[in-house]
Amino acid sequence: MYDNLFTDAGVDVYIKRDDLIDTEVSGNKWRKLKFNIDKFHQGKYDAILTFGGAYSNHIAATAALTRLSDIPTIGIIRGDELNETSNHTLIKAHQDGMKLIFISREEYEQRYERMYHEELRNRFGNVFIIPEGGANHLGVFGVSEIISELSFTPDHIYTAAGTGTTAAGLLLVGSTTSKIHAVSSLKGENYLKNEIQNLLYYSVLDEAEVEMLLDRIEVIEDCHFGGYGKYNEELIEFIRLFATQHSIQLDQVYTGKMAYAFNRDLKSGKFKKGETIVLLHTGGLQGITYR
Ligand SMILES: Cc1ncc(COP(=O)(O)O)c(C=O)c1O
Repeated sequence: MYDNLFTDAGVDVYIKRDDLIDTEVSGNKWRKLKFNIDKFHQGKYDAILTFGGAYSNHIAATAALTRLSDIPTIGIIRGDELNETSNHTLIKAHQDGMKLIFISREEYEQRYERMYHEELRNRFGNVFIIPEGGANHLGVFGVSEIISELSFTPDHIYTAAGTGTTAAGLLLVGSTTSKIHAVSSLKGENYLKNEIQNLLYYSVLDEAEVEMLLDRIEVIEDCHFGGYGKYNEELIEFIRLFATQHSIQLDQVYTGKMAYAFNRDLKSGKFKKGETIVLLHTGGLQGITYR
């Protein structure tokens, strides 16, 4: 990518366009689902079951991918006031063949509980359960494949973060020198690093190794613009400018905040001359609402 700011700072900036993987199953969604779908095929499961909010990119991507793979799928959706026609994401997921089950926010709180999973299996048969956001070790392994697709070892990689699965995947393999900057799109302090740590424990299973990996991560928690899905005019202006300068579209929930954080760090003189930086475009363009 070219920008006077990059030249002035003496850094080389690249963008990894995972948004171009597919129009429906793009970015980190494809990465996180890939090995989960493999696992479904390896077992004798009746269907895939997963969880998400009303506007979940993960629900949209799972519905599209399972339609393409002809896998029966159930989406447990937070909010019993919703239905199959409540918004574009739900309409599309329903059209893709996902059976949508709308539950109360209280019931949704149980989504990680083993007992609740048993209840769901009693109700829906032998389902393969993928957690909200594709946040499991299979998701982490899927994301880790990104590293081997880079033709050089960057000094820094910036990614948007929600569950932390993508950041964990970028840490899991590859060079011990690349620093991973995870830009949280949610409000909340210190939760993200713990989430990344837990995901790594499940993926690596060695405490010392996990501690070593965590040395390479910076969690950026002050670029959420008020919390999940929140934004202001400054962020939208930045996204528009980025699109004009680089001909690359970002969304206001995830990738816009990631690139904004990078831009801020660049202006504050965070990088050394000669360093290379990769911005990971994790997709999410179907979530654009500001136009
Ligand atoms: C476009 C986009 N970028 C980034 C993220 C955050 O990824 P993760 O939940 O793996 O931290 C998401 C959510 O999954 C997303 O939809």
